[in-house]
Amino acid sequence: MKLTLSVIKADIGSVGGHVTPSERLFQTVADHIRTAGQNLILDSYLSHTGDDIAILMTHTRGEGDEAIHKLAWDAFVAGTEAAKEQGLYGAGQDLLKTSFSGNVRGMGPAVAEMEIEERPAEPFLFFAADKTDPGAYNLPLYLAFVDPMNTPGLMLSPKISQGFRFVIMDVNHTEGDRVIELNAPEELYGIAALLRDPERFVVESVWSRATGEQAVAVATSRLHNIAGKYTGKDDPVMLVRAQMNFPATGEILAPYATCHFVAGGMRGSHQMPLMPVKLNEGISYFDGPPIVSCAGFCVQKGKLTEAVDNFAHPFWDTVRDTASRKSIEMRRQGFFGAAMLPMSELEYTGIVEKLTELEPRFKVRAGERALQVR
Ligand code: 13P
Ligand code: 13P
Ligand code: MG
Ligand code: MG
Repeated sequence: MKLTLSVIKADIGSVGGHVTPSERLFQTVADHIRTAGQNLILDSYLSHTGDDIAILMTHTRGEGDEAIHKLAWDAFVAGTEAAKEQGLYGAGQDLLKTSFSGNVRGMGPAVAEMEIEERPAEPFLFFAADKTDPGAYNLPLYLAFVDPMNTPGLMLSPKISQGFRFVIMDVNHTEGDRVIELNAPEELYGIAALLRDPERFVVESVWSRATGEQAVAVATSRLHNIAGKYTGKDDPVMLVRAQMNFPATGEILAPYATCHFVAGGMRGSHQMPLMPVKLNEGISYFDGPPIVSCAGFCVQKGKLTEAVDNFAHPFWDTVRDTASRKSIEMRRQGFFGAAMLPMSELEYTGIVEKLTELEPRFKVRAGERALQVR
């Protein structure tokens, strides 16, 4: 059967700073989905990663469906009311528009969706990240779908050795979706040249070249492009199908052992390592480190199994220690150089105002004076 997997996520308030939603807020969103979603969706699963609540829904209505998007939007509006009543921080943070207009894209919440032909066995992974942006998935997707050093299946399995097609978006282009399609492995260097710049070029989707099936959907929205100012990081969600014509679950998870540096952390303005965490985890150190969770499912006729918490396994404890060590190392150099994002990515206007204020105080030395100093 044709099945749509939709994940819609938003930060609508959190306890004690940008840490985690309150239980009441989470329950309000869950209750809304359960009651209002009854005749609309086949199944759903809710989780939070840091201060972001993600609603995973299965249905048969296709991508970008107004009723599905409205269901999520209304759940977040109901949650925002609860957040306000509790005095949570950033209540309604990601609801950037006041009224719903057909689709949550461009309204603040992040969306990852794909319509699939359900396989007899349909394993898929649902990733959610906090305190970072969608480019955080560039490296793990590159490694999982392109690199035989990470994914032996690219050599060993005839099903995936034909490679994958990458759809990459230029997220700085705000007038519309500016995308390019590149085929791995032939166009590997082109893919690498773009994905090395994760603040501008972001993997939007990945497709099997053997069958044409979609393997990956990433939420690519950038909040500051929508709001015109900093309102929080984008905190992206992603769906990845696993096994058979796609990389194995372990090949998709393996790159997260790198704890690669991503944009985010405190005030969305730093470079911090990405820490794989358990489901429903908060954040702590320096409003971070940036975190990523992964829930694995199988689905049949739209009914989800229970979630397997892929980063709960003891293996990832060591990786978390690595991420902590890398975080502390990077933070030792405070705002200097590589620790902070470049000017173009700093999402607060304060620093621009400061530099503008200092500008008239710069003086170009006259020639003789320059000679004297030398
Ligand atoms: P305020 O600047 O409103 O305190 O919120 C942003 C923030 O907490 C970044 O960490
Ligand atoms: P969120 O995007 O998770 O709300 O974080 C905002 C922030 O500035 C944290 O320092
Ligand atoms: Mg927040
Ligand atoms: Mg967040």
